[in-house]
Amino acid sequence: MAAAEEIAHLREEIRHHEHLYYVLDAPVLTDAEYDARYNRLKALEAASSDPIPADSPTQRVGGKPKDGFQKVPHSRPMLSLDNAYNDADLRAWDQRVRESLPASEPARYTCELKLDGLSLALHYGPDKDGNATLLRGLTRGDGSVGEDVTSNVRTIKSIPLTIPAAKLAAAGLPSAFEVRGECVMPQAAFLKMNRDREAAGQAPAVNPRNAAAGTIRTLEPNIVAQRRLDFYAYFLLTSHESLSSFAEGGGPAFVLGTGGEPLLPSQSQSLTALAAVGFRANPRTATVSTIDDVITFINQSEPIRDTLTFDIDGIVIKLDATQQQRRLGFTGKAPRWAIAYKFAARAGITQLKGVLFQVGRTGKVTPVADLDPVFIGGTTVSRATLHNADEIARLGVRIGDFVSVERGGDVIPKITTVVEDARHPRGTEEIDFPTHCPRCKTALVRAEGEVDLRCVNASCPARLEEELRHFASRGVMNIEGLGEALIAQLLGHTLSEQESPGLPSQSVSSIDVGSAEAESTNAPTAKALIHSIADIYTLTKAQLLTLERIGEKTADAVLAEIDRSRKAPLARVLLGLGIRHVGERTAKSLADHFGSMDSLMEATVDELTAINDVGPKVAATVHDFFQNPTNRTLIDRLRNEAKLEMSAEKRVTTAQLAGLTFVLTGTLPTLPRDAAKALIEAAGGKVSGSVSKKTDYLVAGEEAGSKLDKAQALEVKILDEPALLALLSQAT
Ligand code: IVH
Repeated sequence: MAAAEEIAHLREEIRHHEHLYYVLDAPVLTDAEYDARYNRLKALEAASSDPIPADSPTQRVGGKPKDGFQKVPHSRPMLSLDNAYNDADLRAWDQRVRESLPASEPARYTCELKLDGLSLALHYGPDKDGNATLLRGLTRGDGSVGEDVTSNVRTIKSIPLTIPAAKLAAAGLPSAFEVRGECVMPQAAFLKMNRDREAAGQAPAVNPRNAAAGTIRTLEPNIVAQRRLDFYAYFLLTSHESLSSFAEGGGPAFVLGTGGEPLLPSQSQSLTALAAVGFRANPRTATVSTIDDVITFINQSEPIRDTLTFDIDGIVIKLDATQQQRRLGFTGKAPRWAIAYKFAARAGITQLKGVLFQVGRTGKVTPVADLDPVFIGGTTVSRATLHNADEIARLGVRIGDFVSVERGGDVIPKITTVVEDARHPRGTEEIDFPTHCPRCKTALVRAEGEVDLRCVNASCPARLEEELRHFASRGVMNIEGLGEALIAQLLGHTLSEQESPGLPSQSVSSIDVGSAEAESTNAPTAKALIHSIADIYTLTKAQLLTLERIGEKTADAVLAEIDRSRKAPLARVLLGLGIRHVGERTAKSLADHFGSMDSLMEATVDELTAINDVGPKVAATVHDFFQNPTNRTLIDRLRNEAKLEMSAEKRVTTAQLAGLTFVLTGTLPTLPRDAAKALIEAAGGKVSGSVSKKTDYLVAGEEAGSKLDKAQALEVKILDEPALLALLSQAT
């Protein structure tokens, strides 16, 4: 196949698989199979002299917006919706709608989930072949003028960069149109983002909506690409261009500035067409004829709220027929033909019984509200975070107060306000912060400029417990079976202590300051089997068998998992060490850059700061961590006693590749010779025709001949295609 033809074929194939994966949640290829195609396309594009079109799947992440986001007026205002909070509101709205329509005309309503994110307007226009390409993505802004966030919108994989002419024709769409919809951050992506932020010492985002809104306004498209935003389309409108020509030609129906002109005769058809051309479809919609059916839809939808992977806050009801929408028109700020039914906030009122102080892995002491259990949004809530002393002061909360508790997208409930009325008298007891660690009794320290109090005793058992949980957790050392319950037992707690009421597992290191007794209820016992993360690796089967509910099979399984974790790469081990400010990304950068624990341990603050993702604060923390003798002993033990491999391949920077000479020989499995050459050169390397002492790498494929022999004789490094691609992917 000619290269150009193969490129075209690969682009189409990759788009198809991205659609299966990101829009339909039904992938067919494995990640590796997908990557192989993607890398092959990248290589062919690099080798080709044809310009790479902006809608190629390889071009999602591009340059940063240099001067921030430009303000761009909307083709027509992005309005909001009037709200309904109960059936009566809906019935009154239904009546108004029907009164505005001729008596003979039946009204149908399309109901959709109301996604809790931020709205975006996407403009598509034709390319030379009549395909629709994404031209621009705008935020809502103030409703009339939005911000041009195209560079970030392009990284959202559920937004097609291009829609083939044939698909448009099949769906009855022109190649210019505007799509409006909701950009959301799925809960899993939100939780991951917050884990990373906390590890990096940054404040977590409050909920997925704020996280999505913050992400879309980030000036680094590559960060946006990593965060996995999604987009659900809910409107399909005529394009601005066709709209103005329509208006100039004296088109009757539409007055610019009143809200929108759907392309198709009904909302339900718009939704079908949007899905047909590749947008993510609202997962639950229905078109019905009566307000009773609307109410039934709402009642059936609310319970699925907790089963969705993203947040919704209600149901949007739209008059289905475009003609009828036009007849009803708009009020100042909202269409009369649509309404948002808002679900009741997932909040409840309950009493604050006390405050527990939980000691985290970094020693940070977090106040946790101990609540009279209350049922909110499908679960019983008895704990809520109070964050820190500032938050307590802001709320002005006292023990005994009645408080309003909300469950947002996050799993951790939050106290929003103190409730005070005739039925809810104020509490009287002030919340005192402890002066000493509730677990090890070391005096707590507040660093300058920080709100948080910390236990600075590195061997505090409460810290160790959190450290162990973090170390073993998924995404870190992945030691399956080494969960909370087993860790607690390894630290000498019995299971019955774990399960005792009022002492939930997450606060075993807490005390109730509301009670007179300031002793920890579960002081560490002498039976602890481990005193450090290194001790995980010296555990024996006999020891495990002494624990409650651990039989032969479980013991073997856990030991096998522990053994497997010895192979974890350096980045995971670094993450596992729980160094402040070092999240997944930073750990990876450090591992890539230094290539070994030894070089990292000896790195100076300047060397650390020189790394892309590492600022002065992080550099200082990392440096301090490795200067600390206790930490050095721990690492020694992890290496020598625990036998962790801590392996990493040192990343080759573009600058380093610049001095390197490559020779190509034989036939590579997927890369044509000129593609391989172009890739190496693009990364700054040189490609030469013959092997000499100066050759750094020989890239050898099938039927390599004398060059391979010569390279072997000269002890030149030999790469196959995957090794070359790996080297290149690290070099950019
Ligand atoms: S239609 C004239 N449909 O809710 C604006 N909006 O409270 C009509 N939203 O700004 C918007 N899901 O950001 C519509 N299926 C849906 C929606 C939806 C979420 C958001 C949207 C809008 C806000 C109004």
